[in-house]
Amino acid sequence: MKPIKVILDCDPGHDDAIALVMAHRSPAIDLLGVTTVCGNAPLAKTTSNALRILELIGARDVPVAAGCVQPLARPLVLGTADGPSGLDGSPYLLEPTTELVPMHGVDFLAKLLREADEPVVVAPTGPLTNIGMLLLKHPDVKEKIARIVLMGGAFWRRSEIITPTEFNIFCDPEAARIVIDSGLDVTMVGLDVTMHVLVEEPQFKRLEAIGTHLSKVVLDWLRFYEKLHRGQMGIGGALHDPLVLASIIEPSLIETREAHVEIDLTATHAFGATVADFWGLRGLPNNVKVASRVDSDRFFEMLYASLTD
Ligand code: BDR
Ligand code: CA
Repeated sequence: MKPIKVILDCDPGHDDAIALVMAHRSPAIDLLGVTTVCGNAPLAKTTSNALRILELIGARDVPVAAGCVQPLARPLVLGTADGPSGLDGSPYLLEPTTELVPMHGVDFLAKLLREADEPVVVAPTGPLTNIGMLLLKHPDVKEKIARIVLMGGAFWRRSEIITPTEFNIFCDPEAARIVIDSGLDVTMVGLDVTMHVLVEEPQFKRLEAIGTHLSKVVLDWLRFYEKLHRGQMGIGGALHDPLVLASIIEPSLIETREAHVEIDLTATHAFGATVADFWGLRGLPNNVKVASRVDSDRFFEMLYASLTD
């Protein structure tokens, strides 16, 4: 089958790093390029992390451009799930030797889309600043976006920020609003499903058994990440961003429900919350598909397969 053309917009981040690995390793995906955004760490760090990860996995040919340095309308609040560097616990990742694309990430996104010979899937796994800017600055490229499958939102269950708020939306809620109201086909893969994709001892055992160089690196990242998660929230490491990639490859991995979603931009207590009307009670049109269920075992089989030589 023809590979799906994908652009990954990310803020690595351990889980973004694994999404990058899966995107590059999967024969089902043609990774056109990577853009970086601030979020888990400042832009300089997420960009350097993206370059270092790509170098590590032998993907120096994948072009990387750095995007926005801060959210559209607010100061940057950094994520806390990955340590100050965004990728703590990886001392062996060397300084990057590859050059960045000499363009702003938002313009590079537009260029990649315009040059693509078919509509492309855009996969944002960080705050939506670059994608919001893209839609404002280059609205003509909308017709080249097949769908947006993003990591973001919390709807039914507990959150890791302030219930019901998820970090990527909380970090740049204005950008998120532009994206979900764009009229494009948008799927929100939020905490409702990603908090079911937890890496814990049974998953560590399977990863250990793979024994490739790459699986050892990923295992290392995940041990570090799991420890941080367990310390902060008392649960294993949630593989938020890799689930976005996996669900692009295998859409049946998640179930979705259409909804009208709004983002709380003004609240005192639930700032950045994603508020969904699944039942059309307010008479407003559905604007997104919200992921509501995931087959976590199948996700992990896909992850293991992507790390096997
Ligand atoms: C999201 O925020 C970051 O911590 C992760 O990389 C993920 O994209 C989860 O809320
Ligand atoms: Ca991320």
